[in-house]
Amino acid sequence: MATSLESRVSDLRQQFAIQDALDILRTAVEEAPGKVTFSTSFGIEDQIITHLIFAHDLPIEVFTLDTGRNFQETYSTWSKTILKYQKPIKAYAPQTASVQALVEAKGPNSFYESIENRKECCGIRKIEPLNRALEGQQIWITGIRAEQSQNRQTMEPVEWDEPHQLVKIHPLFNWTWEQCWAFAKDNGVPTNPLHQQGFVSIGCAPCTRAIKPGEDFRAGRWWWENADAKECGLHATHNGPDPVVEQVPA
Ligand code: ADX
Ligand code: SF4
Repeated sequence: MATSLESRVSDLRQQFAIQDALDILRTAVEEAPGKVTFSTSFGIEDQIITHLIFAHDLPIEVFTLDTGRNFQETYSTWSKTILKYQKPIKAYAPQTASVQALVEAKGPNSFYESIENRKECCGIRKIEPLNRALEGQQIWITGIRAEQSQNRQTMEPVEWDEPHQLVKIHPLFNWTWEQCWAFAKDNGVPTNPLHQQGFVSIGCAPCTRAIKPGEDFRAGRWWWENADAKECGLHATHNGPDPVVEQVPA
């Protein structure tokens, strides 16, 4: 089944070039009924996609990876979203035994100490739960936009994800930051209050900070690491070179 969808990737790219985000989501449902899932981290892009799915009753599962280290503002966005739409958001938590073993062995903030430790934490808190969330699915929808980083500009709005053996679709791939905000405002989409504090890309609390005007969209992610392609491995097919540690927070 996965193989036949893989062969549709180039047709879908052409189709999506002329479709809007809602039509892209509808096409995904037609391509793989009951096997489409969407991952949300409650940033503006994800809130727009959640709105499209819930407001139009699309049969797409919405899930989040609850790392246990998210901002309180992210949890409040999660609460107000389920309250507004009255629809479920599935939560995938890390394995308790793995988190316990990690913090006992290396302490709760080991990710600041080395790239290896940071990847270990992301592996336990994000990657392993993601693999469970994607099991049995054929299409994975994300909120990735090209504008977010140089690395993401080399991506495509539809991709074959070899590690997970599924098609990955980014319905807002060509949207600008301004377009996202105009849509959210016009459609009453609940947004994460962190955006008002200068956060653009939102991840775990200890690993995300606000950015200054003119800084890169992803400058606030793992900011003590120096690299063009800071990725946690969720979108592993597009990882750049391993980053170099620049300055470790106190
Ligand atoms: S990350 O790889 O650096 O963490 P980013 O924060 O830019 O990714 O988000 C890109 C997309 O990855 C989001 O739009 C969302 O689809 C997915 N994503 C990121 N973090 C999570 C999370 N904690 N739970 C679910 N999906 C996530
Ligand atoms: Fe751990 Fe930071 Fe990765 Fe979150 S972003 S899983 S806290 S290293």
